[in-house]
Amino acid sequence: MRIFLSGPMGAGKTVVGRAVAERSGLGLVDLDERIEAAAGAETSEIFRAQGEMAFRRLERDEALRAAEQDGVVVALGGGTVCDDDVRRLLLSRGTLVTLSAPIDQLVLRVRADEGRGRPLLAGGARDALERLLGARRAAYAECHASIETSGRDPQDVAREVLEVAARLVVAVPLGERTYVVEIGSGVRGRVVDCATRATPGGEVIVATDGGAARWAREVEALLTTAGRRVVSVQLERGEASKTLAAAERVWDAALAAGVDRDALVVAVGGGVVGDVAGFAASALMRGVAHGQVPTTLLAMVDSSVGGKTGVDRPQGKNLVGTFHQPRFVLADVDTLDTLDPAERRAGLAEVAKAAWLEGEADVAALERDVAALVAGEPSATTDAVARAVRTKARIVSGDEREGGLRRVLNLGHTVGHALEAAAGFGALRHGEAVALGLVASLRVGHALGRARADDVARMERLLGALGLPTGLTGRLDASALGWLGSDKKRRAGELLFVVPGGPGVVEVVPLAAAKIAEILGVPA
Ligand SMILES: NC(=O)c1ccc[n+]([C@@H]2O[C@H](COP(=O)([O-])OP(=O)(O)OC[C@H]3O[C@@H](n4cnc5c(N)ncnc54)[C@H](O)[C@@H]3O)[C@@H](O)[C@H]2O)c1
Repeated sequence: MRIFLSGPMGAGKTVVGRAVAERSGLGLVDLDERIEAAAGAETSEIFRAQGEMAFRRLERDEALRAAEQDGVVVALGGGTVCDDDVRRLLLSRGTLVTLSAPIDQLVLRVRADEGRGRPLLAGGARDALERLLGARRAAYAECHASIETSGRDPQDVAREVLEVAARLVVAVPLGERTYVVEIGSGVRGRVVDCATRATPGGEVIVATDGGAARWAREVEALLTTAGRRVVSVQLERGEASKTLAAAERVWDAALAAGVDRDALVVAVGGGVVGDVAGFAASALMRGVAHGQVPTTLLAMVDSSVGGKTGVDRPQGKNLVGTFHQPRFVLADVDTLDTLDPAERRAGLAEVAKAAWLEGEADVAALERDVAALVAGEPSATTDAVARAVRTKARIVSGDEREGGLRRVLNLGHTVGHALEAAAGFGALRHGEAVALGLVASLRVGHALGRARADDVARMERLLGALGLPTGLTGRLDASALGWLGSDKKRRAGELLFVVPGGPGVVEVVPLAAAKIAEILGVPA
C-alpha cells in the first residue's frame, strides 16, 4: 500500500501522516525531510542559495523515488503535486489524498509553527496562502479524496484516509472536475456518501429502466433512509428509448418535484440510461450534478466514464449531446449478476479494446483471466473493470473533449459502427460489432505494416475465447461499406481510422473508405 498526503501548508500532512503510520504500520516518509537530507541543507537555505526552481527539481526527484517505495505513507510538500508528471504518477501508484482546511485555520496553524522555515510565506501568511491556494486549486482537486481536517482529531482523519486507501478507486483527473470511479462488490452502498459530497441537500432524481430497476430500488432505499428526497424515473428499455422524449421525462419529473440547482441526477442502468440521464442533468436548470451507477459491463468500462452524454436522432446515434462529467461513478460488479450473459460478453469487447490500447500487461492479464471473466467471477471482473477504467481515465484526462488523443478510444468502432448499422440497429449487439471491428482494424494494421500477423491472430483468439464473434466473411459486404463512408468522424472524405500495431501501439490515420474496403477484401 502507498498513501500520498497532499494539501497546503497547515492542512495537517505531517501530523496525519504520523497517525496513519501508527494505525497501519506503514513507514512514514516526510518529503521535506528527504529533500533536506538529499541537499544537505534546510528548505529555507535551499530557497535562499539556489532558488525555488532548484528546490522543485529536488522535490520532483524525491517524489518520484517515494512513488516507487512500498508500504509507505508519504507526507508531500505543499507544492509537490503542482508538477503534472509527478501528480499523475502519484495517482497511478497509490492513493493520493488532499487534506484541506479553511484559510483562517491554515493561517493559525502556520503561525503556531513559525519555527519551521516556510520561504513561500514571506510577506504575510494570509496573502501568500490565498495566492497559493488559488494557483493550486486544480492540482489539489486531482486526487482520490479530499478530506477536511479542521476541528478534527488527526486519528479520526487517519482512519478516514485508510478507509479511502482500502477501496479500489480510479481517479479521472480533470482539474476541478476530477471524480473517482469506485469499483468492486457492494460499492453501490457508497451512494449516500457520494451523493452527500456531490450535493449535501436537494432532491435526488434516480433514473433507471426495467432491466436495472431492481438495483435502482436499492439505491433509492439507501438514499431515502439517509433522509434524501428521491424522485424515481423509469425509462423504456433499449436504444430506441435514447431520445429527447426520455430526457424530457427526467426534466418533467424533476421540475414537478420542485427541484432547484442542488438537485442530483443519478443514473442506475446501462449506457442508455447513463447517456440520457447525464444529458438531462447537463441541461436541467442549466446543469445540475449527476452520478453514475452503471449496471452493465459496457457501462462500467466505457459509457459511465468520460462525461459524454447524449440522445439519438433519426439521422443517427448520439448526434445531440454534451460533455458533462459525473461527480461520482460506482461500478458495483454485483449488479452484473442479473445481466444477460450475452450482454456481459458484449461488454468484454470494450475490455479487450482497452487492454489493447493499454499494452502487453493488460492483454496478458485478460488472456490469463478469460475463463473467470466468461464465468462472471467477481474478483476477475473487478480487476478487468479497473484496468479498463484506468485506461479510459488516462485517455480522457489527456483530451476531455476529443480534440486528439481521445480518438484512439474509437479503436474497432469505425468498422464496428458500420456493421451495426448495416445489420440494422439491435440485430448485432454493440459489443459484438466492436469485436468484429477490432479484428478488422488489426487486419488493416497488418496490411499497413504496423501489426504483425501474430497480433491479428492473438486478437482473434482472445475475442473468440471471450465468446465474441470474429468472422468478417459474410458480414462485411458492400452494404456495410456504404455505412463505413457515412461515419461521422470523417475529414476531407477520409475516415480517421484508429490503426493498431501490437498491444499499446495505435495511431489515428486518415484513410479512404475504399482503401479500408480494399484491405479487408470487400467487393465493391
Ligand atoms: N457516453 C459514452 O461515452 C458511451 C460510450 C459507449 C457506449 N455508449 C452508449 O451506451 C449504450 C449502450 O449501453 P449498454 O450496452 O449498457 O446498453 P443498455 O443500456 O441498453 O443495456 C442493455 C440491456 O441491459 C439491461 N440491463 C442493464 N443493467 C442490467 C442488469 N444489471 N441486469 C439486467 N439487465 C440489465 C437494460 O435494461 C437493457 O435492456 C449505447 O447507447 C451507446 O451509444 C456511450
